[in-house]
Amino acid sequence: MGKYIIAGNWKMNKLPSETYDFVKEVVEATKGAECEVVCCTPYVCLAPAVEAAKGTHVKIGAENLHFEDSGAYTGEVSADMLVDLGVDYVIIGHSERRAYNNETDETVNKKIKKALAKCLVPIVCVGESLEEREAGITMDLITIQIKKAFAEIPAEDAAKVVVAYEPIWAIGTGKTATDDQAEEVCGAIRKVLAALYNESVAADVTIQYGGSMNAKNCAGLLAKENIDGGLIGGASLKAPDFATIVAAAK
Ligand code: PGA
Repeated sequence: MGKYIIAGNWKMNKLPSETYDFVKEVVEATKGAECEVVCCTPYVCLAPAVEAAKGTHVKIGAENLHFEDSGAYTGEVSADMLVDLGVDYVIIGHSERRAYNNETDETVNKKIKKALAKCLVPIVCVGESLEEREAGITMDLITIQIKKAFAEIPAEDAAKVVVAYEPIWAIGTGKTATDDQAEEVCGAIRKVLAALYNESVAADVTIQYGGSMNAKNCAGLLAKENIDGGLIGGASLKAPDFATIVAAAK
């Protein structure tokens, strides 16, 4: 299965002035990690984060990017800008951006293509709302999200994409999906990828779970066959908690 990646998603938290020291804390706390360790930070925190992670095992990611190379897009940030800073990863299509920033399956697809073209690793978020789960359409919805996200992405690039399954009802709510619920959807995502590409590509894609994953519940989730890591919000803001999750991923 895909290589293990534990990525923190800081969201709109932490100041640029506290970022350097905090990333150094993460570096120290996660020494000896047997998985890839990533901190995804607000744009304004990226420069000090990259500086602190330089020459260490920790990689830095952004939380969004624009799909155009440059131009009249006030307030936006391009892939080239992220690469120039030394950023390696970028979160794409987080449910909060889909809900508050008009992110659609189409813009998600464009952003994945741009990230891949610039050698950034996209972490692509998919997931259902509580209403959708209760209506029994979780698998249909996830299948559509995955198909649209991967549209026109060739097999040789597909395995470079990280998929994060994040049920919206579990994000920031303290209500985690059970290990079996998370495994069921992550397994289904791998089947969709196998159908779109082949078994080998599907096996190579890292599929993360995200949604109230923490130091207490991470071991059960990460032990599941189709869960290759986590996208961690709240628990990534405390280095010891984040380090416990990193230690469980091997
Ligand atoms: P949470 O956030 O861990 O705070 O639930 C996860 C995410 O939204 O990526």
